[in-house]
Order: sequence, then structure tokens, then C-alpha cells
Amino acid sequence: MSQNILVTGGAGFIGSCFVMQKIEAGNNVLVLDKLTYAGHPVNLEPCLHSSKFSFVHGDIGDEDLVSRCLKEFHPDAIVNFAAESHVDRSIHSAEDFVRTNVLGTEQFLRTTKDWWQGQNSEVRKNFRFLHISTDEVYGSLDKNSAPFTESSPYAPNSPYSASKASSDFFVRSYFKTYGLPTLISNCSNNYGPRQYPEKLIPLMVLNAVSNKPLPIYGTGLNIRDWIYVEDHCSALELILAKGRVGESYNVGGECEKSNLEIVHSICKILDEVKPKPDGTSYSTQIKFVADRPGHDFRYAIDSTKIKNELGWTPSHCFSETLRKTVMWYLDNSEWTKQVMDEDYRKWLHQQYQDFDDLKLL
Ligand code: NAD
Ligand code: TYD
Repeated sequence: MSQNILVTGGAGFIGSCFVMQKIEAGNNVLVLDKLTYAGHPVNLEPCLHSSKFSFVHGDIGDEDLVSRCLKEFHPDAIVNFAAESHVDRSIHSAEDFVRTNVLGTEQFLRTTKDWWQGQNSEVRKNFRFLHISTDEVYGSLDKNSAPFTESSPYAPNSPYSASKASSDFFVRSYFKTYGLPTLISNCSNNYGPRQYPEKLIPLMVLNAVSNKPLPIYGTGLNIRDWIYVEDHCSALELILAKGRVGESYNVGGECEKSNLEIVHSICKILDEVKPKPDGTSYSTQIKFVADRPGHDFRYAIDSTKIKNELGWTPSHCFSETLRKTVMWYLDNSEWTKQVMDEDYRKWLHQQYQDFDDLKLL
């Protein structure tokens, strides 16, 4: 059945993938996005001419604007992707993370709750507020510890994960206190097309083909559980449709890899599809640089709950989708030109300037 879905942060990496899936399935989607450095209308290009798609430029913390969107669009569900999402930026300054992820999310919940309380009981019962969170709220694992479950204690270590943990607690409190029908997903590291190139995989692909260094923090042995973005979005669809209100669901790719393994895999694909003119491997561009402060060693997700309750499993194979992702960045130079703007160059300068041999600009 077609639904009205309000998607915040829909001009970002994961949000845009979710919007496309929902439009293709015949739903009406309203995207509310502040268009920060990470949000780009080009990410939504395939939807821009659809009569099922509309866009509002604005902040989840803007009570008047959100209130108008709710009254006019009358959503059956809200999916909240809007956030500051990059750990390294949160280490430089947590201010925007507190403003959007903590204060913005709480204001957004409050505005939504005020609107929801004015609806009839049928609408109130069927409404859903799905909040998109991260496995990083659980902190860091040792090599041999069991993966995170939904009952693992929250132990955030970066300002980013602290702000996401705080937003999760507010979502929980709005369910417990007001009965707002909320759901939370805690997902592992995503990869795929349209990820802003400050994150590991797109940064490595684009640096490699520009003959720039591939900066690996510390030893490169830190482990992440990688999931293809479409698998994450298919999990979100199921959580929205069948998840039990008030619950959290962990979503993982069953694909633990060290950063070094990821970068070597990218170099291998590039060596094959776009060999370097001098005949050497792209892996010769790897540079070990100073570690990220407070760098979490390992994330791993136990997805038993979503598998057993909702019947979800990741369906994409890592080696195929990593190759597809690498090819997407090679084939979409117009996209990279648009998003690697002045702001991006400033970020690279700020983040990597200390490494004198990293000639990234
Ligand atoms: P992203 O940085 O690519 O996109 C974030 C989007 O939110 C952008 O379009 C931005 O303009 C928008 N935004 C930021 N502040 C806003 C505000 N105040 N009001 C309205 N819009 C605002 O992020 P992403 O990687 O697509 O992540 C989306 C969500 O998923 C985030 O909440 C993130 O914490 C979570 N998450 C991400 C990953 C991952 O690996 N990328 C993994 C798990 C969870
Ligand atoms: P990132 O993509 O920033 O995601 P997250 O911090 O949310 O896991 O980083 C993934 C891993 O890659 C993380 O362990 C940090 C590491 N990393 C590097 O080694 N070098 C880099 O330049 C970047 C951006 C990340």
C-alpha cells in the first residue's frame, strides 16, 4: 500500500538510497534536508522529476517549518537520517553534532509528538518514527569479543557516537513517556554509491586515481563490519513495516574487515580496471599516518534479532559490491566534481595538513 513518508537527511548517502527505493515502490516521499556539506540534491537526481517526490530545504530543529511539513504532507511514517555523520569532523569540533544530533533530534521529536497527539487514534496507532542510528554507540570491541547485540551497554567513545547515543536515548524517552511509536536501527559501516568522499572507501578510490597518498590511521588493523547500502535500506523497509514499536534492531553486513584489507582490495580492483601508467600497484600509495584519537578498534554486529523477528539477511556479496562501488566512483566524475567542492578541499587541508608528505591539495 502506498504511504506518505517524510525522510530527513534524504540528500545524503544512505537517505538518498532509501528515498529511491521508496519512490520505486510507489510511495510519496517528502525529503527535508538542510543541505549541509554532506547533502547534495544531485544524490536525488533520479527522483527529481517524479510526481511522488517533493523536497523542502530546512533543518529538523526548525519547529515552524517541520510543523508545516507535517500538517501539509501528513506522513504515515518519518525516517530520520538527518545527522552530522563523520567521526573525524566531530573530533575537530562537536558543536554541529550537538546542535543537530542532540538538540535537533529532540526538537524534531517534540514537534512530531505535538502533531501526532492531535491525530485520531487510528492515525496515531499506525504512525511510525524510525530513527537511524549506528553501532558506534556501543563503543569498541576487542578482537575476540562477541559482536554487539541490542542489549550491549551504550559506551560511545567519539563525540559523534556520544551525540548519536544521546539522540537514541531521546527517541526511547519519547516512546516511554508519550507513547510515540518509535523504532531505532543501529547499523554498521555502509559503503556504496554517493557516499561523501571524506569516508574511508570513496576517499581511497578517489585519492588513488588522483595519484595522491592513501592515508591509513595507525596500524590499519582496526576492524569494521561493512554493509552494502542497499542491504541497510532493505532492513529499514522491514523495520518500518514489521518492527515492534519501542524496539531497537541491530543491522550488520556479516563482513568484518580491517582497514588495511579494505584498502588493499580497492587497490587490487583499480590495478585491474585502471592500471597505473608506471606499472606499479596503487598500494604503493599507502601511507601510514598518525592514529585517530580515541580510535575504536573493532565494531561487529549480531543481527540475530532482525533475522529471527523480521526475516532479514544481507543479500549482497562484498567482493561484487565493492567492485561495483569502485566502478561507480570511476564512472561518475560529474558527481565527484560537484561534491568535491571548496568545502571539501578545506576539510582535506584541515584533516590531513599535519602529514607533510600527504600532498592532498
Ligand atoms: P550523510 O552525512 O551522507 O548525510 C546526512 C544528511 O543529513 C545530509 O544530506 C545533510 O544535509 C542532512 N542534515 C544534516 N543536518 C541536518 C539538519 N539539521 N536538518 C536536516 N538535514 C540535515 O550521512 P549518511 O552516511 O547518509 O548517514 C545517514 C544516517 O545514518 C546518519 O544518522 C548516520 O548517523 C547513520 N549511520 C550512518 C552509517 C554510515 O556508515 N554512513 C552507519 C550507521 C548509521
Ligand atoms: P570512516 O569511513 O570515517 O567510518 P567510521 O569512523 O564511522 O568507522 O572510517 C572507517 C575506518 O577507516 C576507521 O577505522 C578510520 C579509518 N580511516 C583511515 O584509516 N584513514 C582515513 O583517511 C579515513 C577517513 C578513515
